[in-house]
Amino acid sequence: MCGIVAYIGSREAYPILIKGLRRLEYRGYDSAGVALLNKGNLSVYKKEGKVAVLEDFAKNHDIAGNIGIGHTRWATHGVPCDRNAHPHLSNSHRLAIIHNGIIENYASLKAELETRGYVFESDTDTEVLLNLIEDIQKEEKRTIEEAVRVALNEVVGAYAIVVIDKNEPDKIIAARKGSPLVIGIGQNEFFVASDASPIIEYTNNVVYLNDEEFAVLNRNGQLDIKTLGNLEKTPYIQKLEMDLEKIEKGGYEHFMLKEIYEQPQVILDCMRGRMNAEQGWIKLGGVNEYATRINNAKRIIITACGTSWHSGLIGEYLIEELARVPVEVEYASEFRYRNPIVTQNDVVLAISQSGETADTLSAIQIAKERQALIYGICNVIGSSIAREAHAGSYTHAGPEIGVASTKAFTVQVTILTLMALQLAQSKGTISQSRLRTILYEMEQVPEKVKQTLKLDVKIKEIAAKYFEAKNFLYLGRGLAFPIALEGALKLKEISYIHAEGYPAAEMKHGPIALIDENMPVVFIATNKSAHEKIVSNIQEVKARKGKVIAIILEGDETIKGLADDYIEVPDTDELLSPLVAIVPLQLLSYHIALMRGCNVDQPRNLAKSVTVE
Ligand code: AGP
Ligand code: GLU
Repeated sequence: MCGIVAYIGSREAYPILIKGLRRLEYRGYDSAGVALLNKGNLSVYKKEGKVAVLEDFAKNHDIAGNIGIGHTRWATHGVPCDRNAHPHLSNSHRLAIIHNGIIENYASLKAELETRGYVFESDTDTEVLLNLIEDIQKEEKRTIEEAVRVALNEVVGAYAIVVIDKNEPDKIIAARKGSPLVIGIGQNEFFVASDASPIIEYTNNVVYLNDEEFAVLNRNGQLDIKTLGNLEKTPYIQKLEMDLEKIEKGGYEHFMLKEIYEQPQVILDCMRGRMNAEQGWIKLGGVNEYATRINNAKRIIITACGTSWHSGLIGEYLIEELARVPVEVEYASEFRYRNPIVTQNDVVLAISQSGETADTLSAIQIAKERQALIYGICNVIGSSIAREAHAGSYTHAGPEIGVASTKAFTVQVTILTLMALQLAQSKGTISQSRLRTILYEMEQVPEKVKQTLKLDVKIKEIAAKYFEAKNFLYLGRGLAFPIALEGALKLKEISYIHAEGYPAAEMKHGPIALIDENMPVVFIATNKSAHEKIVSNIQEVKARKGKVIAIILEGDETIKGLADDYIEVPDTDELLSPLVAIVPLQLLSYHIALMRGCNVDQPRNLAKSVTVE
């Protein structure tokens, strides 16, 4: 979590840092700061709150300098406040650091440093690491890069760091393990950032640092990369394929709204070149590459967190239904800590928008050690999970900035659908005519999502009726159950209303006790095979005076007659219904959150990329 940005070259660093921090703010936003080195002076400005607060504060100060580092924080150690904000200074005020991640053994290192006279100004683990670097630099008379290397060999945990040294004004040091870091290469200038968004307008030549590597960036244009074991590495320069326009709001009031509206296009982009209904084929490059192992897998384990876990539940349903392979879906955070039984006959699908989620990354490392084939489904190109996996498919949704995931979810489901169909075709568990029918329907999905987006006015009216509710229940069966979970997650993330997703049939085993005239219950009734049963569940809620909001297929007169409010979405093949059914729920939570005055793009306590365990 947290965003890191740094610059060294001949331009003024401050505007680059601030612009970069604004782009990275989605990653963490409880405090922000910059450190600038100018003519032997190291100035640090840092403030609790958003980047705008920092800008307001810094405008009355000296912000000159063409070497600098900036940070937007998501606190792990120490409350968000000015003092705990990054950058941190070393005891002698010679070094400054920004850090993303957690130093797990900070307490013992801190105790040791305290006995040696070090005093700490913050409660962070970060300041401990910096003073350790300073201590090594002083005691062992090492250069800054050597001191960083030696110190990092002593720490346990995850980090992306950038360090500057007042006495070495022509270089910055960057290192990573478990948290992302990308270096932008310009003409005698370098940029460093947590993702490419702060870099893209200056250069599209980048180097992704690998775990346990550190880089020395010199003002003369020299870039040296070494491992923490001191082995030299040749920088592998890649071309960025990112579009500046795509990381801006493009006329929408919020990123989340823009991303909801991008769904027809990104679903299309995700399917492009991967299927053809007329010719009846599906071709996911990653699956072809490992066809034998994937086709012969005894079991598929899907591991992910949050929204990506919800798409995994849909994947389970689709793969089991179509390809008849047993699937298990695991929270990555649980999987990694319970000594899972994984063998070389298993395929592990890791689903992640960011490709940086620490829990998911650790889960696949465990599965890899146990010889499973790892298949990544990631959105961010070049991300850690994408690189760690043996094979994979990118979802091609473009940058997702809103903290609440929307378009990334629909493209994950798109890939999982393609994967289930491709597997089914190879294993002969689907007839060619059924396959074609589904593929034809898939081609219609972007248009159907577009039609669903036109229901926005009605959805807003429904939001106005219920936005003051204290609780919400979301119910669905079969393929609609993960949609209920995802709808509830969207609402709680951005509106702070307590919401629960539940299998509709399970309601009578407990949650029914919650239902009274103040409880809105959202039914996802878009899967025809569960229709009658869902109607009965709606009756049960009505009988207890609950308010029913139903997501239904066009022309469903039965539920229209029962529900207090309904949203009619276009019909599609039942297996594809999640792709359409989720859209009104995204819009409903968006409008409710706005009506409650919440910050839709940057909800409290959350961060886009969860790089801590
Ligand atoms: C989604 O709205 C959430 N912000 C969150 O649950 C997210 O899906 C989760 O942290 C996983 O992220 P990833 O897809 O980047 O791995
Ligand atoms: N652990 C550090 C802190 O609490 C860094 C957190 C982050 O990644 O923002 O400040």
